[in-house]
Amino acid sequence: MDQPLIEVKNLKKYFSVRGGTNHAVDDISLTIHKGETIGIVGESGCGKSTLGRTIIRLQEATDGQVFLEGKDITHVEGRELKKAREKMQIIFQDPYSSLNPRMAIASAITEPLKYARKLSKTSLKVESERLMDLVGIEDRLRDAYPNELDGGRRQRVGIARALALNPAFIVCDEPVSALDVSIQAQVLNLLMDLQEQMGMAYLFVTHDLSVVRLIADSICVMYLGQMVEKCGAKEIFRTTLHPYTKALLSAVPSTDLDHPMKRIKLNGELTSPINPKPGCRFAARCPYAMEQCMEPQVLEEAMPGHFVSCCRYKEIN
Ligand SMILES: Nc1ncnc2c1ncn2[C@@H]1O[C@H](COP(=O)(O)OP(=O)(O)OP(=O)(O)O)[C@@H](O)[C@H]1O
Ligand SMILES: [Mg+2]
Repeated sequence: MDQPLIEVKNLKKYFSVRGGTNHAVDDISLTIHKGETIGIVGESGCGKSTLGRTIIRLQEATDGQVFLEGKDITHVEGRELKKAREKMQIIFQDPYSSLNPRMAIASAITEPLKYARKLSKTSLKVESERLMDLVGIEDRLRDAYPNELDGGRRQRVGIARALALNPAFIVCDEPVSALDVSIQAQVLNLLMDLQEQMGMAYLFVTHDLSVVRLIADSICVMYLGQMVEKCGAKEIFRTTLHPYTKALLSAVPSTDLDHPMKRIKLNGELTSPINPKPGCRFAARCPYAMEQCMEPQVLEEAMPGHFVSCCRYKEIN
């Protein structure tokens, strides 16, 4: 296989907080190929955004490495960092908070270009027209301000801005969760069309497993900073190995009436990501937890390409 676009090796991002250290991302490894979409799921606070932000160097890693096209970019600075950042962009959940309210949208979209490339005013205008067209924003809106747009168009501006530098990799951090359901599908379709045209890879953070089924090639399930299961995006719906993934999936309304899934209710408290104990972090809520779960867990390849971090996965499946 050709060289991965992104390789994340044992990545850690810890935050010093009152009372100890928050292990927000704790030893995550993954590989993303050109044009691929990896879905990242898991409940609020499990470290999805921190993972995305640390990969693209919006935050400094505490430990581990990130390779972009084979080059270690974990600690590059200056020109090298600038070059790496141009290839890795992010689309936020709420484009409103990431857009300058006083900047007209055509300027907002080409702002990254203005700093990275020395383009004339005319070329910037041409580029803004091209990008607006690409994401389906009417040209009459070029001088509008973010607050004059609806949520869907505002997110299209965020997408156009992320595309301005022609990146190879985009972190999509819940890009549709803040939108009306009717608009969500349009924006998802746009992201898929753009990927087909331009071939960039996505790390797609979402709470919504049906979105993963629709757009992702592979899926990584996180629980309190760690990866508990990883496999093909379709595979996860056929063979679910980790008890936490089972609980997540059971909360999705089933479309398969012959095989309705029993809703699994999680009891017990959410373990804190601050100074976690060495054992399985899900154990406190896991219906299958036993003494052996208090030992550190290893991510094991249960089947080709299907990884799980649970010492009891064979017995319980
Ligand atoms: N800058 C920071 N300083 C201290 N702690 C942080 C910081 N950013 C995130 N955290 C903590 O790191 C953990 C992971 O946060 P993160 O935002 O990555 O989770 P998430 O999975 O994206 O959650 P959500 O689904 O709510 O967006 C949480 O415990 C959070 O409180
Ligand atoms: Mg988040």
